[in-house]
Amino acid sequence: MKVVRTIGEMQRLTTRLRQEGSLGFVPTMGALHEGHLELVRAAKRRCDRVVVSVFVNPIQFGPKDDYHAYPRDFKRDRLLLARVATDVVFYPDVREMYPDDYATYVEVEGLTKYLCGRSRPGHFRGVTTVVTKLFNIVKPDVAVFGQKDAQQAFVIKRMVRDLNFPVDIVIVPTVREPDGLAMSSRNVYLTQEERRQATVLYQSLREGEAMIKSGERDARRVKQALRRLIRTAPLAQIDYVEIVDTSRLHPVKTIKGEVLIALAVYFGRARLIDNLIVRG
Ligand code: PAJ
Repeated sequence: MKVVRTIGEMQRLTTRLRQEGSLGFVPTMGALHEGHLELVRAAKRRCDRVVVSVFVNPIQFGPKDDYHAYPRDFKRDRLLLARVATDVVFYPDVREMYPDDYATYVEVEGLTKYLCGRSRPGHFRGVTTVVTKLFNIVKPDVAVFGQKDAQQAFVIKRMVRDLNFPVDIVIVPTVREPDGLAMSSRNVYLTQEERRQATVLYQSLREGEAMIKSGERDARRVKQALRRLIRTAPLAQIDYVEIVDTSRLHPVKTIKGEVLIALAVYFGRARLIDNLIVRG
C-alpha cells in the first residue's frame, strides 16, 4: 500500500493506475471505523484499484466546530486500510490542499438549505469544494459515500450531475453497532453514560419508521414522537429532528412517497447525526 502526500505525485500515479484498470475512491477524514472500511470493500468489489484519502478538511468546519479536537491517528488508519487491501492512501497536508491564497469554492444550492446545511452554515460548501478537488486529483471512475451522511450523499450526487463529473457515485448503507448506534468517528467523544443513552437515536428513527409504515401521514406528529423519545435520554440535546422529501430535501407537512427522517443530537460535545429513508 502506497502513501502519497503531494497532489503532483497523486495525479501522476492516478494517470498510471487508470491505464491498468478501473479506479475506485473513498474520501474520508480518518479516525477510521468499520463504516469507512465497508466503503473501501464496496469500492474494491467494483474496481481494480482503490484510493482512500485521509484529510481533515478545515473548510467544512465552522468556528464553533471540532476541527482542532477532531480525532487523528494516521498510524492506526494506515493499518486498517492495509488490512482491507487499499492500494493507495492520499494523505495531504492542509497547506498542500489550501495554499495561503486559496480562493475557489463550489456550492450546491437548495439541497443544502435545511438539516445540517441550516445548522452548520458553510459546511456543505467546504465538503463540495474538497470533494471537487479530490475528484480532480484522484480522477476516479467510482467514488463511494455512506448513507450515514445522507444529505452529503445527495449533495455530492447533485454536484456530480450538475458539473458533469465523469464519476459514478455509490452509496453504502449505514454501518451500525450491535445496539443500533451509527458508527461515527465522533463516537469516541462519548462518555460511557452518553454512549449508553445514544442508542435512543436509532430507536427513535425506527419508531418514526413504524408510525409511517402503519399509516401516519402527519410529519409533525411523527417528529413530535421522535423528540419525545429522544428527550427520555437526559443527556441528549436536540439540534434538529426533520422529515424531508428525498428530491429536494425540503421539510414536508404530509408524508407521501419517499421521505428522509433525519436528526442531529448533541451528547456532551459530540454532535451525532443519523437518518432513515422510509417509503410512505
Ligand atoms: P468522514 O466523516 O470521515 O466519512 C467518510 C465517509 O464514510 C462518508 O461517505 C461517510 O458517509 C461514510 N461513513 C461514516 N460513517 C459511516 C457509517 N457508520 N456507515 C457507512 N458509512 C459511513 O464525510 C466525510 O468524512 C467528509 O465530509 C468527506 C466526504 C471526506 C469530505 O471531507
